[in-house]
Amino acid sequence: MVQIIENKELQEFNTFGIQALCSYFTELNSIEDFHDLIRNVIYQKSEKLIIGGGSNLLFTKNFNGIVIKNSLKGKQIVFEDDATVIVKIAAGENWHEFVMWAIEHNFCGIENLSLIPGCVGASPMQNIGAYGVEIKEVFTELEAYDLINGEKRIFTKEDCKFGYRESVFKKECKNKYLIASVSFSLQKNAPVNVSYGAITGELDSHGINNPTIKDVSEAVIRIRRSKLPDPAVAGNAGSFFKNPEVTTEKFTELKSHFSELVAYPLTNGNYKLAAGWLIEQCGLKGFEYNGAAVHSKQALVLVNINNCSGKDVYVLSGYVLQKVFDKFGVTLEREVNII
Ligand code: FAD
Ligand code: EPU
Repeated sequence: MVQIIENKELQEFNTFGIQALCSYFTELNSIEDFHDLIRNVIYQKSEKLIIGGGSNLLFTKNFNGIVIKNSLKGKQIVFEDDATVIVKIAAGENWHEFVMWAIEHNFCGIENLSLIPGCVGASPMQNIGAYGVEIKEVFTELEAYDLINGEKRIFTKEDCKFGYRESVFKKECKNKYLIASVSFSLQKNAPVNVSYGAITGELDSHGINNPTIKDVSEAVIRIRRSKLPDPAVAGNAGSFFKNPEVTTEKFTELKSHFSELVAYPLTNGNYKLAAGWLIEQCGLKGFEYNGAAVHSKQALVLVNINNCSGKDVYVLSGYVLQKVFDKFGVTLEREVNII
């Protein structure tokens, strides 16, 4: 029988390290646990929040509902030929451990996504991405369960409507499904992707000319460790905002005033701006508010440096939004899921 705990503290379940209570808490170790749970009256009457590693969440208040920690485990190879392998990974598996497992087996495609915190089940939520790769490139399908009637549904890549830090699960399917497993198509002996400038520089500095996927993974890990704060030291949820997309006209106008503007052309003719650069130019790197701060090495990351509340982080994020808008006329969008 699945256990339901009342009034559970959530500080250890979110990487921001924010104190917040939930009315009810439960953990799923199997799909049978889930089928058990949906017959429970407390579950049926409560607002529901599924969590994995809590690394993309900000609790701004207590959660008056049931938090469901997904701990489903298991890895399965469902297809294999000379070139490709399709792996089906349970949602509660740790993302980085899965990446390490793939590298160990020489399965290529996700090495650039090394060291992203959290669980496999959350990876489709915002189509996680880093260093020139997004999961939509290797995603094949996922298995989900309707949170009300428990029915199983397969989501194909098209169903997921992946975009930059976006999917159907942040929009019309928000809070409607438990993602139980995700399947990925990985390649044997595929060329590595070193298109993201920082990787090439990092490999060069180690004298590596013909990198393996392990070399790429290690380079990514070194870069990430050099700029992103370790949640065990300063609570955070990675980038707090998305990099905004602007039209060519807006880009040209900004570039004429700010020649150093960091921007990347997109295939649709628009430009993506580096939000970290915009925030830094507002003089906000290291800016503090009530124990919350803009990270001093990466301005896109907000950190809990002194036992702040989720509201403090949220207020700080509003201040950052306003400052960036006042200086550049660009509206940033929060990436982190606000509860
Ligand atoms: P949680 O925070 O637990 O949940 C996130 C959202 O997904 C919530 O809305 C939750 O309700 C929902 N959810 C979680 N699991 C399920 C499930 N099984 N079924 C249905 N809904 C579910 N992200 C990137 O894309 N790229 C990066 O480079 C990156 N770097 C980061 C660096 C640091 C230091 C940190 C702290 C975070 C970083 N992130 C990055 C953000 C984060 O790691 C990812 O978004 C990750 O996928 C979140 O996983 P999680 O299990 O912690 O999700
Ligand atoms: N920059 C600054 N100042 C800063 C931060 C960045 O000038 O304080 C400039 C950098 O110099 C660089 C550019 O902005 O020229 C891009 O910086 P970086 O390579 O660090 O990447 P990012 O755009 O800030 C994005 C993702 C990260 C991902 C990295 C690597 C988003 C919202 N963030 O950050 O994802 O790891 O690229 O691919 O797209 C996350 O989503 O949580 C996350 C950490």
